[in-house]
Amino acid sequence: MVLAVEKEILRVSGLVKRFGRVEALKGIDISLTRPGVYGFLGPNGAGKTTAFKVITGLLRPTSGSVGICGVDIRANTRDAVRNIGILFDSPAYYPYLSGRDNLEVFARWSGLGGAAGTEELLRKTGLEKAADKKVGEYSWGMKRRLGIAAALLGDPPLIIMDEPTNGLDPAGIAEIKRLMPELAHERGRVILFSSHRMDEVDQVCDSLMIINGGVIVASGTTEELSRAERVVEITCSDAEKAVNIISGMSGIDKIERTGADRLRVRAPGSPAGAINGALVEAGIEVSRIAESKESLEDIFFRLTGTGFNGE
Ligand SMILES: Nc1ncnc2c1ncn2[C@@H]1O[C@H](COP(=O)(O)OP(=O)(O)OP(=O)(O)O)[C@@H](O)[C@H]1O
Ligand SMILES: [Mg+2]
Repeated sequence: MVLAVEKEILRVSGLVKRFGRVEALKGIDISLTRPGVYGFLGPNGAGKTTAFKVITGLLRPTSGSVGICGVDIRANTRDAVRNIGILFDSPAYYPYLSGRDNLEVFARWSGLGGAAGTEELLRKTGLEKAADKKVGEYSWGMKRRLGIAAALLGDPPLIIMDEPTNGLDPAGIAEIKRLMPELAHERGRVILFSSHRMDEVDQVCDSLMIINGGVIVASGTTEELSRAERVVEITCSDAEKAVNIISGMSGIDKIERTGADRLRVRAPGSPAGAINGALVEAGIEVSRIAESKESLEDIFFRLTGTGFNGE
């Protein structure tokens, strides 16, 4: 019997990148085999852009390897990059040519696309009306949309976009949020993108990776990453005393004062009942207690060590 082996669209192994003394990537491993939208989330300076540049062959790794659809990016850059659509900051355009002409030039250079393809991409990225305008007269968001259209030329199996919605207006963000799952789930593409917008990542990603200090600190769905933790919001008559009582309980991860009479507690399991019992027993009046799963923002701050508790 022949076993079907899932083909790796992207394989990253032990990727290290040093800039002089700065170790921007400290050994990154990624394996993406299935179509989907994958989010790369991390604070400023975490290594997202560096990782994307090394993965797309624009920067040489210090060590480690990258395979795109089974082709090693360093050994065979030309063939490997044929399988990637790339968006970083806006590419250099011909300012005196229209958006449509620029896209056609890109298509011709890369041997991809064709007129029908470029028209569809202009439509998908919301540039139909501006297609005949000179790119020199484009706004930043319009150039960004054109950059996204260029990244999609030739319908590559792997699309890597560094902050694709950065600088887009709400309509542009909504269009990209619609486009990414469509490309992944209707056309079977793998999309890896970075963003600082938690809502966006939460809404469109099938899975996400959190990167901090050049290391992927966690990966999985929001559901998987939040599984163990619960956040309990409490409003009570004596928040200071409540902090003392709760800190004496076992299994509590963090306590934060969020207002004169409010606090937020983080703990695994289902801790609200026990906390409520302990507070009431100590004579503290609890006017509100609500337990919820961690939001992606909570997860992000917990894993990157910023934000929660104001650290
Ligand atoms: N060309 C370079 N020369 C020296 N250091 C660099 C260079 N590019 C990036 N770095 C450093 O590598 C680290 C990671 O930077 P990178 O741009 O990858 O972060 P990022 O996650 O994309 O951040 P942001 O959210 O701000 O875009 C930072 O410490 C940065 O200063
Ligand atoms: Mg960056």
